[in-house]
Amino acid sequence: MVSVAIMGHGVVGSGVAEIITTHKQKLFASVGEEIYIKHILDLREFPDSPLADRFTKNFDDIINDIDVRVVVEVMGGVNPAYDFVKRCLLSGKSVVTSNKELVAAHGAELLKIASENNTNFLFEASVGGGIPIIRPINQCLVANNVSEIAGILNGTTNFILTKMINEGMNFDDALKLAQQLGYAERNPEADVEGHDACRKICILASLAYGKHIYPDAVHTEGITKITLDDVKYASIWGGVIKLIGKVKRLPDKKCDIVVAPMLIPSKSQLANIDDVFNGIMVRGDCTGDVVFYGKGAGKLPTASAVVADVIDCVKHLKNRKYLFWADSDNSSVIDYKESVTAMYIRAIADNTADAYNKAKSLFSDIHILENSEAKENEIAFVCEPMAYGEILNNIDALNNSGIKVESAIRIGDL
Ligand code: HSE
Repeated sequence: MVSVAIMGHGVVGSGVAEIITTHKQKLFASVGEEIYIKHILDLREFPDSPLADRFTKNFDDIINDIDVRVVVEVMGGVNPAYDFVKRCLLSGKSVVTSNKELVAAHGAELLKIASENNTNFLFEASVGGGIPIIRPINQCLVANNVSEIAGILNGTTNFILTKMINEGMNFDDALKLAQQLGYAERNPEADVEGHDACRKICILASLAYGKHIYPDAVHTEGITKITLDDVKYASIWGGVIKLIGKVKRLPDKKCDIVVAPMLIPSKSQLANIDDVFNGIMVRGDCTGDVVFYGKGAGKLPTASAVVADVIDCVKHLKNRKYLFWADSDNSSVIDYKESVTAMYIRAIADNTADAYNKAKSLFSDIHILENSEAKENEIAFVCEPMAYGEILNNIDALNNSGIKVESAIRIGDL
């Protein structure tokens, strides 16, 4: 029998307890031992839980229990999770977490502590919920040089954009619906401003390229400024707008990493990933594109990934599983203004013919998007790839000449 503790009994934590209880035989068959939940840490009371006798409000009950070999952290947030996880690893207990904020902020340090204490720190559930992605990048695709990872990494924003694209709902109404359905938090900032997706692409980039990339080094834009006009122009161009987290490895081994809404072509494998689903594409030099698709959030999908990590820890109690990246100062990340991208631009001008001429003089080449339902004096075009900083300068020049730019959205070459 292997004793485990679960810190947090919210959506994911209760799912972990449920799977360990209901899938007891299945898990036994996999590890040859019973997984026994010895403690559950939560400040709330759960008198009706079948595991009511295991609850504690005191972390000391877990850290001081030498029987507990694996600790699951599903509290969320950085504090006190960081302190608790660190102490567990230092005392030789393996830790499994679904906490992307924690891994994105302290992953390198916690992996180092795990290594020094010959124990495991696993976090499959931190990216893509129930979709296997950490293990595939770390193991199955390890023979590849990965040139790029791009994904729809946030279910809430994907649900909102899907409603805007398929049902013509505006952003505010789609967000309200997401909140009613329990997908979006009452304070939706982390999702709609792209911070959640940023943490996830940081974890994937750190894993793929071996150096920690911290979220504050990543240019991040959310979806709050996307309008139904942009959705329409994306369709005229031949695609859809998705919030994409993307990292590309450049020939000098630097990383071009960004989170932003992008127009992606309808033929892209990510274009039809709708509603709350996530999709992640990994470009390997041996495999070509590999795409992972599934439920990126939710109680049982996320708990499924957590329990798989628990099983892996139990199987590797004596020999550490190799999962590691080094700390870094973010110097491998290029300035976002150096990132080369094509761009969709929509603007309002007094004279549309003059405005297109001005746009042509600034951008080397433009592709005009014809829209029979265009607003009066509206222009829209896609420019050829150029440095994002140059695009910003050109947008300033348009604005300074009275051509008011209302939208500027990257084109994703996916
Ligand atoms: N808020 C996140 C999402 C939950 O919408 O994808 C899963 O990380």
